[in-house]
This record gives sequence, C-alpha cells and structure tokens, in this order.
Amino acid sequence: MIIEPRMRGFICLTAHPTGCEQNVINQIEYVKSKGTIEGPKKVLVIGASTGFGLASRITSAFGSGAATIGVFFEKPPAPGKTASPGWYNTAAFEKQAIKAGLYAKSINGDAFSDEIKQKTLELIKKDLGQVDLVIYSLASPKRTHPKTGVVYSSVLKPIGDSIFSNKTVDFHTGIVSEVSIVPANEEEIENTVAVMGGEDWEMWINELKEAGLLAEGAETVAYSYIGPAVTEPVYRKGTIGRAKDHLESTAFSITNSLKDIGGKAFVSVNKALVTQASSAIPVIPLYISLLYKVMKQKGIHEGCIEQIQRLFSERLYSGNEIPVDPEGRIRIDDWEMRDDVQTEVARLWAEATDESLPLIGDLPGYKRDFLNLFGFDVAGVDYGKDTDEMVEIPGLV
Ligand code: NAI
Ligand code: NA
Repeated sequence: MIIEPRMRGFICLTAHPTGCEQNVINQIEYVKSKGTIEGPKKVLVIGASTGFGLASRITSAFGSGAATIGVFFEKPPAPGKTASPGWYNTAAFEKQAIKAGLYAKSINGDAFSDEIKQKTLELIKKDLGQVDLVIYSLASPKRTHPKTGVVYSSVLKPIGDSIFSNKTVDFHTGIVSEVSIVPANEEEIENTVAVMGGEDWEMWINELKEAGLLAEGAETVAYSYIGPAVTEPVYRKGTIGRAKDHLESTAFSITNSLKDIGGKAFVSVNKALVTQASSAIPVIPLYISLLYKVMKQKGIHEGCIEQIQRLFSERLYSGNEIPVDPEGRIRIDDWEMRDDVQTEVARLWAEATDESLPLIGDLPGYKRDFLNLFGFDVAGVDYGKDTDEMVEIPGLV
C-alpha cells in the first residue's frame, strides 16, 4: 500500500517500513565509518527499538561486532495497518545483522513485567551464556509494578508552589505561545519516579546476576538528561527530574551489588534530541529548535547515533578509565552544555516569537527529525511506491 504520515497531536499514527530501514542503514553506515571499537561482545539492550536504545544496539553490533538481544514494546503490523516504527527499525536492524553474520534476537513485550524478564533470562542462558553489557533505555508513560500490580503513570509537571509559565512552540504550525503548568502533587511525583526512576533497572540487574548471566566485569548503562535553566522547571527540577535523580542514585546501589563480579553501573547524560518522548514535553521543542540551529552553525550537532558512537568510543571503551563528573555521571551532553552554546540559546530564547522563529530557530530540522522517527521524509526513499506493511522481524522470540 501507499503509506503516508497521519498526524494526531504529538504523534504520528503510521510508520514507513522503507524509511525506517533507510534510517537504520544510515546509522549502521555511520558507525562503520568511524572504525572498530574494542567494545562489548554480548549485549542486552532494554528499549532497543528506537532512539538512544536502537543507537546503542547498532553501535554494539556494527562498532564492536557484538551479539545483541533487544527488548522493546512495539505494535506489529496488521493487514492495511502499519506497525509502530520500532518494529520496522528492528526488522531492518536484524536483516543487516544477519547479513553481517552477527547474532541478533528480539523480544517484544512489557519489560517491566516478570514474564518478559524471565523470557529474556532464558534466551541469554540458552544462546549467549552471559552478557557483558546491559543498556537500559526505556521511555514509557506507564508501568505496571510486577509485584503489586499497581499501575503508575508519569506526568511532566513542575514541582513547588507556583504555576510555571514560559514559552513553547507547536512545531507543526510554528506558533509560539505561553504555556502554564500547575505543579504536581506528591502522588504524581511518586508515580513518575516509579515509572522512570531506577527501580526496574535494578530489578533487571538483580535478576540477571542471581541467574549467573552477568559476565565478570559486566557493565550496565542507563540514560539521563540535565539541560539548561529554561527547561529546569519542567525537566530537571520537575517530576521527570525526580525520576532521573532516582535513576542516578540507583547506579550507585547497582555498582555496590556488582562488587563481587567487578561490575559497574553508569548513568550517561545525553543531549536533548527529537524523539517521541521529548516532543510531548512542553517548552522542550522550542529549546531543541534553537539548540539545533546553534549547534548546526557551530558544526557540533549530533543525533542519537553520533552520541552513542561517541559514548562507546570515547567514554566506555576508550581504553582509559571512564571519565565521570563530580556526581559520578558520564557526560556526552558536553557540547550541548558548552558556555558558548548555552549563552547563544538563552539570547535567542528571549527573542523567540512566531515571526522571528523561522529565522533564529531550526523548525525545519525539528520537523524533519520528527517525521524521520516514523520513517517519513527520509532522503532516497520513494514514497509513491507500493510498500508491504507486513514486515516480519526474523529473530523475534
Ligand atoms: P524512545 O521513545 O525513542 O525509546 C524508548 C524505548 O523503550 C523503545 O524501544 C520502546 O519500545 C521501549 N519501551 C517503552 N515502554 C516499554 C515497555 N513497557 N517494555 C519494553 N520496552 C518499552 O526514547 P529515548 O528518547 O531514546 O529515551 C531513552 C532514554 O534516554 C530515556 O531514559 C530518556 O529519558 C533518555 N534521554 C532522552 C533524551 C532525549 O532528548 N530524547 C535526552 C537524554 C536522555
Ligand atoms: Na531508546
């Protein structure tokens, strides 16, 4: 069928298999062009189908020749209805992995559940024996707690007494407006920490370790964000920031629990990028469109794959001790947070209106990246061509 983008608010309801495949091929080509990384050999990626998790899987496989198992939650295709983009991304990744002679298997289901954890453990035991790297890259609005059955929902709200107001942009229309958000209550804060904090990450690592599936010296990495002062009320000092605080402190408790096998847990602080998750946060799209403009002008813009390739080659597997900040975090948001970048973005922020944004911000870049997430507007893809939506993932277990 002919597949076109169907937008509803901040999401796109369709995805294009060929466009997703081309995106994955481009990422693989980028990693290969940067040369071999003396990196991990057997990798579990939790949240492996889109964004930073997909980039981690690609870098492990095509940078270090690693066998990979990917866990994710994606919608399969049905006749006349496309799959979600992560499904097509994974199908494309596995196709290329098989061609390159690399082991790649995938599990589609709720990573927060005991069932999917057990299924993953069994697959590792059967096929890989042990893993030496576990990437934890989930972004989810909800979590059902596996022991209590309680369903937690995360919110993106400020914390404190006063209503927060600032500018935001509707990136579809380019209209800049003022947004006001009422602060979260205690229950909403707890809910967000339960979904996006470190509890599930720790459960995964405990269960892997107890089953003897972590290799000597195994490492695990989860992803976090900090960002500038303008986004602090809705991000780092808001509900999601509380969850990231929890995630970051969980790294220390996991490292403690891995002492006997010489293992370590890290949080890597990554750059702000257009993903399905970040597009839904107020204020962030305006910040990203200004940030992209400034970083592109300075020649230091990166996407997920450039970020993760740099994380592996210059931080995790450079051969030197892994550099961390005073809070123990790996920083690959270093270019985003550079003084010259942030000074420029803050200046543009003050100026941003509907009229000025086309000149001072990179809305076209934002829109293209957003469409690319779903396999649309990808260079070299013929969107007029009849396309099969019923794509299979070869190594789905
Ligand atoms: P994403 O939405 O592209 O990827 C989320 C992944 O989690 C997908 O593979 C999805 O299938 C999987 N997933 C979601 N719920 C699941 C469930 N219940 N069971 C199994 N899999 C599930 O998100 P993105 O942006 O790559 O985020 C990954 C991490 O990176 C998050 O911790 C996020 O906070 C962090 N991060 C994101 C930044 C950004 O600007 N996008 C910046 C810095 C950090
Ligand atoms: Na991800």
